[in-house]
Amino acid sequence: MSEFKVKRCRPIRMELRVPGDKSISHRSIMMAALANGPCEIQGFLPSEDCLSTVNAFRAMGVQIEELDATKWGPTHLRVHGCRGEFRSPDGDIDCGNSGTTMRLLSGILAGQKEGFRARLTGDASLTKRPMRRIIEPLARMGANIRAEGPGDTAPLVIEGARLQPIDYQSPVASAQVKSAILLASLFTTGKTTVTEPVQSRDHTERMLQYFQVKTLRQENHLSIWGGQTLESRDFEVPGDMSSAAFWVVAAAAMPGAHLRVDNVGLNQSRTGLLKILIRMGAQITEVIDHSRCGEPVGRIEVHGGRLRGTTIEGADIPNVIDEIPVIAVAGALAEGKTTIRDAKELRVKESDRIATVTHSLRLMGAEVEEFFDGMEIQGGAHLKGARIDSHGDHRIAMAFAIAGLHAEGETVITGTECIRTSYPGFEDRIREVMAAKNKDNHTPVIKSLNPATERES
Ligand code: S3P
Repeated sequence: MSEFKVKRCRPIRMELRVPGDKSISHRSIMMAALANGPCEIQGFLPSEDCLSTVNAFRAMGVQIEELDATKWGPTHLRVHGCRGEFRSPDGDIDCGNSGTTMRLLSGILAGQKEGFRARLTGDASLTKRPMRRIIEPLARMGANIRAEGPGDTAPLVIEGARLQPIDYQSPVASAQVKSAILLASLFTTGKTTVTEPVQSRDHTERMLQYFQVKTLRQENHLSIWGGQTLESRDFEVPGDMSSAAFWVVAAAAMPGAHLRVDNVGLNQSRTGLLKILIRMGAQITEVIDHSRCGEPVGRIEVHGGRLRGTTIEGADIPNVIDEIPVIAVAGALAEGKTTIRDAKELRVKESDRIATVTHSLRLMGAEVEEFFDGMEIQGGAHLKGARIDSHGDHRIAMAFAIAGLHAEGETVITGTECIRTSYPGFEDRIREVMAAKNKDNHTPVIKSLNPATERES
């Protein structure tokens, strides 16, 4: 098991780019494979999760060329779309740690021709995560899908079937559930509508539109007409807001820090963290420079200072679902109390994030009360270094590395391999931040951290 050590750093002064957005990278491969010709994808995130999606489609006969790569893996790909007609894979499709691969792929595979068969497996964490949430609506559409694991968990076996459109009221605000249904609906000949309790991230619908598929949004209802063909087009993936989040929190809570993140996706369904930090007193500006392939892209600038506690609940939650571990760290660094409620979805992420965050914050000296759907953190404690187990969860590893930059003494993060599922290169950035110092007691500005420049030598 790999680990790394983190120590308190001087005020961060950094200009960086983060690797490609994970949600969008997965979808770019899926949409391109569904399209009617070749699509080039630039800015692709070469992380283990996204490579699980690439490997899945390769195993089903889709030709995917690698046109450029960093030391972590391919960032520029050409996918030869085959109008969504795939061949049965020879062996199991291993989705690794990736819930997005398993759930969205299930929607696509459910609509394959009769005779198609695939079995989707995953790692120890993924095979514990709930799959009933996609099995139930897909089965209602006529899908032939069954779970082999206890309590409707993976492995999933999917056989091709004729699907019908549905009108589905989702009990959870989940982009993965919504997307699985939308992708399955492409294989029907009618109108499918998905209604969510609160709107989740909307990349699937934006990307479908970009690939010339008509959808209609009316508040929380999203409708799509089956039988449409995705027109092959090139696509560029913006930087991942959820990866930028770690640096934004690190700088926002650090007086004297200055951070600028360029080329980051600023889709409103993903930037809830910025609003919450501003509510906590952070100095943050967000500038949308342009729209690229249907997604707003721009920069974030942060001037560090003191934060104060806040309450995060209700409609806030879906927008920050992946950022809550690092928001909890911000809460521990802030003055006053931070309360997080209505977030029981966190219990079924890559780890039980309510339990892992509560436990890890306590190890670092913070006072935290755990609720079934969240936690209450008494801010202002001086965090001290501790040994923090990632529990195989990338966002826990990275959130507590950020806590370590603010803590007294040494923090050791163990089980750090999982970081490669979403942010290859994160550990290098942490090392640069800790190593940088100059005579003003500041880090010199760290520049040109463009993941695209990390060529293999
Ligand atoms: C994702 C949706 C969210 C998020 C996950 C990525 C996606 O999951 O937590 O990291 O790409 O659609 P849920 O749909 O389970 O909320």
